[in-house]
Amino acid sequence: MEPPIVLSCLAGRRVHLGVCGSVAAYKALDLMRLFRKARLRVSVVLTPAATRFVTPLSFAALEAEAVDTDMFAAGEGAPFGHLRPRAVADAFVVAPASATTLARLAAGLADEMLAAQALAFSRPLVLAPAMNPGMWANAATQANVRCLQERGHSLVLPVLGRVACGEEGQGRLADLEDIFWALLSKLCPQDMAGKTLLVTLGPTREPWDGVRCWTNLSSGRMGAAVATAAFLRGARVLAVAGPGAPRLPGGVERHDTGTAREMFAAARSLWPQADAGIFTAAVADYSPLPLGEGKFKKRQAGESLSIAFSGNPDILFHLAAERRIGQKVVGFAAETSDLEAQATAKLEWKKADMIVGNLVGGADSGFAGDKNTVFVRDIHGRAESWPVLSKADVAWRLLDWLETL
Ligand code: C5P
Repeated sequence: MEPPIVLSCLAGRRVHLGVCGSVAAYKALDLMRLFRKARLRVSVVLTPAATRFVTPLSFAALEAEAVDTDMFAAGEGAPFGHLRPRAVADAFVVAPASATTLARLAAGLADEMLAAQALAFSRPLVLAPAMNPGMWANAATQANVRCLQERGHSLVLPVLGRVACGEEGQGRLADLEDIFWALLSKLCPQDMAGKTLLVTLGPTREPWDGVRCWTNLSSGRMGAAVATAAFLRGARVLAVAGPGAPRLPGGVERHDTGTAREMFAAARSLWPQADAGIFTAAVADYSPLPLGEGKFKKRQAGESLSIAFSGNPDILFHLAAERRIGQKVVGFAAETSDLEAQATAKLEWKKADMIVGNLVGGADSGFAGDKNTVFVRDIHGRAESWPVLSKADVAWRLLDWLETL
């Protein structure tokens, strides 16, 4: 499983992962791998019950910097191992969190290592419970959950489904990606809190007949990186996504669309709520004139075929024209040649505040892949060419720049 985003600015940040005695404990190994692939440093603590499900050795093999189990163990850091996460970790995530550990944390008990470390910890604590639906629904567990939320801890709630014992209900550990997002947002500055960002992303799909369409190769990854980075920095994000755009954090308000006109209608209705819009979508400039619901047959055309197209609205251009004072507009320009000149011309005629140009077709740039090589220009005359960066890092830097517009 690959992490959905890897941000250079978070490399080396330290996470303490607590694991409780639940069948879902094995999933903590995958979570640990996600954290490592996201270039975070990870230490681990297992409750005594957790060691019956997974071994400390497994976490050590995945490069955990320390794996604590026993509060009274001798060795490095003893006797103050319960204070080490407090001293070094930027965030503490407990996944899976059992009913017992939730009760311990709510009551402030410190009778085993995980609970003692959590009680001493003063930075963000994220709890992802997993248990039998009956145990989850129990009034005692629910009271503990409310108590922990009221104290400001983040809970990634269990989801509905079949749990290990075969019962159906709420109790399954949340998706690892959702736990990952919750943790990552705790490591990011919340400098976009209070802002609303509109992002368009992905391709559009223009139907031609009942089975065929006109589209392009946009993966939506650049826009997904922008939406995700803004979300992690505390913004409210309104994402208008074309077909096949990647998964986004659950907290992003996603609006799925198909055609350019649908994307335009969705973006236009959301635009008044936004402080800024970043238009990364590869919108079809023209749509084939549709041939109806059925499948077009070759015999209707003969040897060659001409298709008529009609123009689509330019979403960026229209929303820039309709913007209220203070709303910022960032456009993208995917080009195959003369990048700087083409991007600069687009900044002017689309009346954007900033344009991000990239050459499509290169190995480290464009629609597919995780990397991009961009040229950025804004209306204040500032221009920069950036080296090859991951799309996540391009997104992060664009948001930094957006703040200065
Ligand atoms: O003119 P061009 O398609 O190259 O412009 C690219 C920029 O304009 C991108 O930001 C893209 O999202 C936006 N655009 C749009 N609506 C269109 C065409 C492009 O919002 N119909």
